[in-house]
Parts: sequence; structure tokens; C-alpha cells
Amino acid sequence: MKGSEETVLTGDRPTGRLHLGHFLGSIENRLKLEKSVSGKLFYMVADVQALTDNAADPGKVRDAVREVALDNLACGMDPKKTTMFIQSQVQEIAELTIFFLNLVTVSRLKQNPTVKTEIAQKGFGENVPAGFLMYPVSQAADILAFKANRVPVGDDQLPVLEQTNEIVDSFNRLYGKTFERIKPVVSKNPRLVGIDGKGKMSKSLNNAIYLADDEDDVEEKVMKMYTDPKHVHASDPGKVEGNVVFTYLDVFDPNKKELEALKRQYKKGGLGDVVLKKRLAAILNEFLDPIRERRRELAGEQHLVMDILEEGTRKARQTAREVLREVKTKMKINYFQ
Ligand code: TRP
Repeated sequence: MKGSEETVLTGDRPTGRLHLGHFLGSIENRLKLEKSVSGKLFYMVADVQALTDNAADPGKVRDAVREVALDNLACGMDPKKTTMFIQSQVQEIAELTIFFLNLVTVSRLKQNPTVKTEIAQKGFGENVPAGFLMYPVSQAADILAFKANRVPVGDDQLPVLEQTNEIVDSFNRLYGKTFERIKPVVSKNPRLVGIDGKGKMSKSLNNAIYLADDEDDVEEKVMKMYTDPKHVHASDPGKVEGNVVFTYLDVFDPNKKELEALKRQYKKGGLGDVVLKKRLAAILNEFLDPIRERRRELAGEQHLVMDILEEGTRKARQTAREVLREVKTKMKINYFQ
């Protein structure tokens, strides 16, 4: 493997279906990289990571493995270009995680801002599962088992990737130059707010529009969107800032000129929420239509998605096996070679 070649690796935790926030935050970037990068591309369904806080719910994780792969395929990921695989089936990642754990202190793990926030959100306190606390280490292994150097993620994952680079430095220092520092690829899109306007779109907050939602679901959710509570009658002047319908139109409405005119009218008064919401629902449905269509086609072929993942996992293991051979040699644990 040449040092300068680009290898991309990215992944999703399979805990449920993916939504519009995932599309803007990571899927869109993956598809762009698939077009522009000439090196290897990997997409991982991170079921081991999903289990770190869903150990009691293996059925949910198992079902979501297929769903998240299907979501990415429906958005246009090409399994001929991107090797799509399941984390738990590449044992080398688990092995590498064990070696990396010696390079990281418990206090460093406890200080990771992403993990800290997640521990608070999930209400773990001191009873955080050890596997969850150390998921940044296993994520470093996800990436480095393939010697990936570009990693598309949501911006919340940056502190996690910082730990990967610390592990790269420690490993190289102790055992000789083996890994390259990685570069995160973060989306330029602002984080998409949920339909309630309270926080980012997320499954746990029940404020998401899913890539697999049908037309009626989308319409119903858009009709429930948070707007300006003081804009009671169409004739009242309304607020555009913080108005979720406008936030979404800013992202998805292809006709920016018309949108600016609508904003002016809304601020002045004389434009009702329902008119705007109808416009947004139509735009979102037009955006989701081809994704839904592909999803139906792919889902219709019984074994297709699992076959893609099985084939991808076989390929991924070959790469990981080679990297682990080198790692073990560097670590002087290659006794029988
Ligand atoms: N933690 C990532 C997320 O929640 C998912 C993930 C697991 C990942 N392993 C990865 C992303 C390796 C990039 C590279 O979004």
C-alpha cells in the first residue's frame, strides 16, 4: 500500500433508520468522495459500536444493519466502488482495538467531549459500560485496520478522530512508523434542526424525517413543524429566523429567488404557514422520491443487500488481515511466522 494514496473509511451505527440529518451530515459527502477519490473506499456498518450502548437490544441492532446499508444504497452508494461491510465480522478490528487500548489512558477517555456529552445524554453517569467509554479506541481500529486516511463524519465526531491521531502518533513512536495521521472530512452543511426546532434532528428526540418516510409521513411531519408561534393569522407579520420551515427551505428549495421573495412577504404579513408548508412538503417529497424508489427496488430483491455486505466483508477482511500482519510484526508478536 502506498503512503500517499487516499483511502476513505466511514460508517454508521445501526440503531435505526437514517434521516435527512444523516444525508446532509455524512451521506452526501460519502457520495461526493465516491466520485472524486481514486483510492479505496470503505463503508462500515458499525454494529459492534452500536452494541456498546445497546447490549440488551441485539435484535434492534441486527435489523438496523440491513436498514442503514439500504439507506446508503438508496441514496446512490455504489457497492462496486465502495466496499460495504459489517464491523463485527472483521475480527481483526477487535484484535487491533485490544492493542490500541494500551496506548490510551482511562482519564483521556473520560475527557473526550463527544463521549462525555453522550454519557450525559444517555444518563449513564458512573455506570457507563466500559465498551462505550472506549469506543473512540475501537473507532481508531475501524479506521486504521484499513490504513484509511480520510474519514467523512459529522462534526460531533471530531474529538473522536482526534483520539485516532493520538493513537497513530503513539503507535508510530513505540513500534516504528506504521500509520499515517488521518484527515476528517466534515460536511459544510449546517446541522439540520429537528421538526420541533428544539435541537438537532435525531431519532431519540422523535423529531426526524426519515429517508424511508412515505409521502404522507413527510406531509404530516411538515405540517407539524415549528414556525413562529406569534404568527397566528396569515396577515400577521412573521419571523423567518428560527422558523423551521424556512430553515429547511434554505437547504432544500432550489429556487432561492422565489424563496427570498417569500421571506419578504412572510415578514411583512400576508403569507400563511400552510402555503409554505405545502411548498416544503412538495420539495422534500421530490427530493426523497428517487431515494424511495431505489429503496423499493433494492428491498424487493430478497438477498441483495446482505449479499453485498457479505461480499464486501470478505474483501474488507483481506485488507485488515494484511494490516494486522504488519502490526503484529512491528509489535514483536509474530511468533510463528
Ligand atoms: N461513531 C460514528 C458515528 O456515530 C460511526 C462510526 C463507527 C464511524 N466507526 C467509524 C465513522 C469509523 C467513521 C469511521 O457517526
